[in-house]
Amino acid sequence: MMRDEYLPFGKPNFSDDEIAAITRVLRSGWVGMGPETLEFEKELGAFVQAPQVVTTNSCTSALFLSLLAHGVGPGDEVICPSLTWCSTANAAMHLGARPVFCDIDPDTLCASAETIGAKLSPRTKAVVIVHLGGLAIEPGPIRDALPAHVALVEDAAHALGARYADGRPVGSSGNLTCFSFYANKNLSTGEGGAVALSDEETAARLRSLGQNAMPSDAWKRYSHSKSLLSFALTDLGYKMNYTDLQAAIGRIQLRRQPEFHARRLKIATHYHENLPRMISGLRFQRDLLDTDHARHLYLILLPRTGFPVSRDRLLLALRNRNIGASIHYPPLHRMPLYGGADQPALPETESIGARILTLPISASMSLADADAVVVQTEQALRAEERVIV
Ligand SMILES: Cc1ncc(COP(=O)(O)O)c(C=O)c1O
Repeated sequence: MMRDEYLPFGKPNFSDDEIAAITRVLRSGWVGMGPETLEFEKELGAFVQAPQVVTTNSCTSALFLSLLAHGVGPGDEVICPSLTWCSTANAAMHLGARPVFCDIDPDTLCASAETIGAKLSPRTKAVVIVHLGGLAIEPGPIRDALPAHVALVEDAAHALGARYADGRPVGSSGNLTCFSFYANKNLSTGEGGAVALSDEETAARLRSLGQNAMPSDAWKRYSHSKSLLSFALTDLGYKMNYTDLQAAIGRIQLRRQPEFHARRLKIATHYHENLPRMISGLRFQRDLLDTDHARHLYLILLPRTGFPVSRDRLLLALRNRNIGASIHYPPLHRMPLYGGADQPALPETESIGARILTLPISASMSLADADAVVVQTEQALRAEERVIV
């Protein structure tokens, strides 16, 4: 039997505390970027162990400002994986640079020092690694394989709460590390993002570039300053800042991360206990049940050969049964925007891109929801196999 209500692959979890916090800010008379945002930045810095945090209106903006601050521009190349969301590559393109797609390690589903090294050229100005699904990739070996002038940026849109092998949180590496607080992320404020970093001067530059390159932020200009306000712009900036309304939600969501982390682990464990008996040869992203994994996405890989149901058939069958299965991601390099057929082949990315499937996981899901996914998957497979046979 079909599930009554559609289960999205990622659904935020808001409590009365978030509602109270946003009400407090609405009543305060100031809803732009201000004191709540600064507190959120401090608290996020403590959570990810980063000396500096600069919030933005999205992770897309965080990536763009990070590359801009490093001086990426026309003629430059930026290496990134193809199995990612478009923002990873588009940040480079918006600056006139060319994204150069690298292959992935079939175990982690992420770029590695080897796959990145294969794409290095004298034009490489930056590398963006993606902690896909919330699996923390070690930046050390990648940094060691890069010339000193090449920036290493971490796209941690999925990885709030993930930890590197030494137990330190993603965000603490000193690289420009970009987080997303988009609607379905582990910490959701509707929209939003942040760059975590260590260098104070770069943080000041990022902050300014995201606020029209103003010498001081709007809150200071509007609030109780008694000095004469004047400024002469020297740089062309952008309007990409966060707001106190979002930060008020974010501060509560940050405190609830351990609860969310535990819930995600419970859901993933239930899938792990049940799926392999239905799909022989099923593979998972590495470390999906490890405590260091942020489990933003529950990624499975259907067998390379011998499985009677195609990935797309299974995806549609699940959607028809109100299970929000999804694909993260269709590889970018084969899309027309990025060159399509003219792009060099990326064998692992292409093989994995055709077999990868995301099953719903979120801090809003109950164990009964997870069980519904298991039951519906089993029934969908049976029905599909019957049709095929
Ligand atoms: C890997 C990755 N990078 C960047 C982004 C962009 O995040 P935002 O929607 O906050 O701009 C996303 C969004 O889903 C993402 O999945």
